[in-house]
Amino acid sequence: MFHQNKGKTTRQAHVEIPKGTYEDEHGRKGFFGRASHLYHKNPPTNWVKIDGPCKPRAYNLLKTNAQTDPWQATFVLENEDVKLGFMQPSGSMKYFYRCSDGDLVYFIHEGSGTVDSDFGPLTYERGDYVVIPKGTTHRLSAGSGNQKYFVIESTSEVDLPDKGLLGRHALFDADCMKTPEPKAFEEKGEFIVRIKREGQMTDVTYSFHPLDCVGWKGDLTMFKVNIKDFRPVISHRYHLAPSVHSTFVGQGYVVCSFVPRPFESDETANRVPFYHRNIDCDEVIFYHDGDFFSRKNMGVGMLTFHPYGIHHGPHPGAAEGVKSKTMTNEYAVMVDTFKPLRPTAQAETCEWKDYHLSWRE
Ligand SMILES: [Fe+2]
Repeated sequence: MFHQNKGKTTRQAHVEIPKGTYEDEHGRKGFFGRASHLYHKNPPTNWVKIDGPCKPRAYNLLKTNAQTDPWQATFVLENEDVKLGFMQPSGSMKYFYRCSDGDLVYFIHEGSGTVDSDFGPLTYERGDYVVIPKGTTHRLSAGSGNQKYFVIESTSEVDLPDKGLLGRHALFDADCMKTPEPKAFEEKGEFIVRIKREGQMTDVTYSFHPLDCVGWKGDLTMFKVNIKDFRPVISHRYHLAPSVHSTFVGQGYVVCSFVPRPFESDETANRVPFYHRNIDCDEVIFYHDGDFFSRKNMGVGMLTFHPYGIHHGPHPGAAEGVKSKTMTNEYAVMVDTFKPLRPTAQAETCEWKDYHLSWRE
């Protein structure tokens, strides 16, 4: 199909939206595929009620029930590619952990600590993404204070996005990624390596320290990068799609970082996200810090889930609320998945049940 333009529209998407209309991006493959823009007379999120699984949901992850083992995440959303959860651990892991079900990303929402691994130790702090490849033996030890980690378990490798025309040093330079120096631990005694495979644990006991590598080489290792090292791409004249904030990619999902950036300064350009119904992607956002300009009543530690099929977009008043502002002030982690996510039984216990009605004026 070739591009067409019918009725009351604008020549440039997200700019000079016809007065009295609400722009809705009806696009395939996230923001990469074929798309149309629809100009509605009413905000498509102004429903009266919703019955069925397409309901947008929000969860307060700070209220998730801990697992018996506090170093295992409580997952709230999952599909075949990715599991999303939260943990609030303390002390140290009592074992050395090897997740053979996927790569792990610990996003440090609050707290700090050290992760010892086959590759050596790395310290971590608030705002770090700690990425641990599938099958890596590791042990986390929390520092003092509250520890709150948003956890992504990915069946496929966590990779970096193709930066294309931006050039390879955009978003964050490779030098912002920290990798461990080898360290063979000398402690004596018996040690347990706990392996997770298909969700089941196997304990392997060693009479020597399992982190005994005196050296390593190669291109598969643990690393960390901080969300504050992410330098967003902006356009002063055009509201760019959130995919420009891609930080990691895996099979069936993408992770984006939202960090403070200047608002669009051109008077005619949209300053808040357009409505869309995510034809091909479920969208999850974890709210880490700051003020979330497009969603009201969204506190830190919340997670929103917008299933594909149903609209989402800015809350009423968001466009007016940002008129006098020059910068966004939000840190959030978005995970868009191509296969549908399922809320777990644990999600139910921390759900904000009326979230889907929060767009009502
Ligand atoms: Fe979205």
